[in-house]
Amino acid sequence: MEVTKICCIGAGYVGGPTMAVIAQKCPHIQVTVVDLNEQRIKDWNDPDTNNIPIYEPGLSEIVAEARGRNLFFSTEVEKAIDEAQVIFISVNTPTKTYGKGKGMAADLKYIELCARQIAKVAKENKIVVEKSTLPVRTAEAIKSILDNTGNGVQFQILSNPEFLAEGTAVTDLLNPDRILIGGDTTPEGEAAINALVDVYANWVSKDKILTTNVWSSELSKLTANAFLAQRISSINAMSELCEKTGADVNEVAKAIGMDTRIGPKFLKASVGFGGSCFQKDILNLVYIAKSYGLNEVADYWEQVIIMNDHQKRRFSNKIVQTLYNTVADKKITFLGWAFKKDTNDTRESAAIYVADDLINEQAKISVYDPKVSRNKMLADLNYLESRSVEENNNAILAFDNPYDACKGSHAISILTEWDEFTAYDWQKIYDSMHKPAFLFDGRNILNAKELESIGFVYKGIGS
Ligand code: UDX
Ligand code: ADP
Repeated sequence: MEVTKICCIGAGYVGGPTMAVIAQKCPHIQVTVVDLNEQRIKDWNDPDTNNIPIYEPGLSEIVAEARGRNLFFSTEVEKAIDEAQVIFISVNTPTKTYGKGKGMAADLKYIELCARQIAKVAKENKIVVEKSTLPVRTAEAIKSILDNTGNGVQFQILSNPEFLAEGTAVTDLLNPDRILIGGDTTPEGEAAINALVDVYANWVSKDKILTTNVWSSELSKLTANAFLAQRISSINAMSELCEKTGADVNEVAKAIGMDTRIGPKFLKASVGFGGSCFQKDILNLVYIAKSYGLNEVADYWEQVIIMNDHQKRRFSNKIVQTLYNTVADKKITFLGWAFKKDTNDTRESAAIYVADDLINEQAKISVYDPKVSRNKMLADLNYLESRSVEENNNAILAFDNPYDACKGSHAISILTEWDEFTAYDWQKIYDSMHKPAFLFDGRNILNAKELESIGFVYKGIGS
């Protein structure tokens, strides 16, 4: 079967960029991205592609090229499902906030809604592709809904997890390490797998396209994220030991990273990992292991999260301790709020938790982030429900330039590794601050010696 029409349900961080790249690389395929959120679709259709709702380097150019040609953004979910041969499900799967598995399991209500909607609308055979990260065996649930509530048409369910990282989404999509497609081992399943392989083969070489059974594909995604997060928690654990012993964690990371069996990536000590995937996927893995009675497996992976929470708390404690055990009414400047550089995404960002701790200590937080609005910062804090909306409103000041954000503050903390931070006039910033001027570098991106020679009391992670 040759695919000519694709629909993607969910115009978020995964669906939007992925479909934009498919449309750019496959001009013969009509790609329609749908979402229930009208504002989000309106933003994707903004005549000026610099205003699209997701910031990713290179994305607005791709959208400008393909949009209106073979890439469409729409709220007409049913029409798009009806027309497409292949439907990607790319809706959010947050950690459950209620009921069984609260705080651990993935909430599949959005996925189920999609399956029911596809079942209702489809009048011809369809391939349904899971793109969101899902617990193992979700495909089975989707299939059961489709087969039992559908109009008697045949559905093939494929798992095709996305490995892109935010901030590098476009290059990751254009140049993936691998594409993973899981499907049934029946002739119909294999035909569906091949149809999707052919879509990717328009720009990815076939030896990088891996096909497996559905369960292996689903579990591989959780495993990849768990391994990556585990490396960060491992180096963060060593960072605390380094601080006590006089070793330097950057030197340790370099030394171990040169061992080809270990490799240099994902060994950067930090204030803690954030993002929508790592914590959610590990919690999910822990929940699955527990549900099979595998308590040691569950405990093993849970430790990665425990270490990450400890690292965030340790960072805020260190600020309080260093500032003579009180930050009440002191102005503390955050440079960065996003969970990593080159994205406007703030989900699970360490900044949120560090701010929450410091506001509990009655500090005033002043923030500058090149891509995050004050409303987003407030929404992140309000979501924690630690205090009233009004109190959060009073505790957070946002600035649109770093120099104003730092003026008159007692301490600066770097929460995101934005490149521009290294290029600031640090002397000018120092001169405008309360003395002694403290600098807590949660990302180890600044030059300690240079800053100390200006006069800063500089504290990085793990040194
Ligand atoms: C991750 C996976 O990398 C990606 O494959 C998957 O599809 C989704 O989850 P993402 O969350 O976008 O991607 O970003 P990633 O680059 O993995 O960073 C996650 C967090 O770890 C960030 O907060 C980052 O700052 C932190 N990190 C990363 C470190 O603290 N140290 C490192 O060495 C690497
Ligand atoms: P991700 O990071 O996984 O892409 P996002 O939250 O950025 O997650 O995007 C998911 C999108 O899916 C949201 O824009 C949301 O409105 C959309 N969505 C959720 N459920 C449905 C549904 N049943 N039909 C259409 N869109 C949906």
